[in-house]
Amino acid sequence: MNLIDVLIQQHRDAEALFEAWHHAPDEAKPELSLRLAETLTLHSTLEERWVYPVARTVVEGPRIDFAVEEHGEMTQLISELLRVRHDPRRREATVRQLEAVAAQHMAEEEREVVPRLRKMDADAFGQSSAEIVRSASDARKEAMRQLETSAPM
Ligand SMILES: [Fe+2]
Ligand SMILES: [Fe+2]
Repeated sequence: MNLIDVLIQQHRDAEALFEAWHHAPDEAKPELSLRLAETLTLHSTLEERWVYPVARTVVEGPRIDFAVEEHGEMTQLISELLRVRHDPRRREATVRQLEAVAAQHMAEEEREVVPRLRKMDADAFGQSSAEIVRSASDARKEAMRQLETSAPM
């Protein structure tokens, strides 16, 4: 699978988790909160380290700066979600916000960034997509550790 297909698949995985959230029983939600946090953190890490630097060379204007800001917003909400995942009322509110930000962000990315990246050679990203996903998974674990320790109790 090329890297752009991996990204799109991760968007669909995130959407499927949000969809599952709306049908999940309460007792499944702390665990689902963790899966949402992991999935979105993996994806943001992969984009910020491997994709956005290349995207900056083919997407004009401040689009990628905005995208990084939106990732920051999502990271804050993910950190909040980890903190409130055992509180039914607050986790619902947080997931609703996170879903809204993520949905808009992914739609814009697919409209404005992905079509340009599709024109790049596969080697533009420096490593194979399998290697990048492996490195991003390691980086994701570290990012999650930081999020969990920074989430005030
Ligand atoms: Fe993104
Ligand atoms: Fe994305």
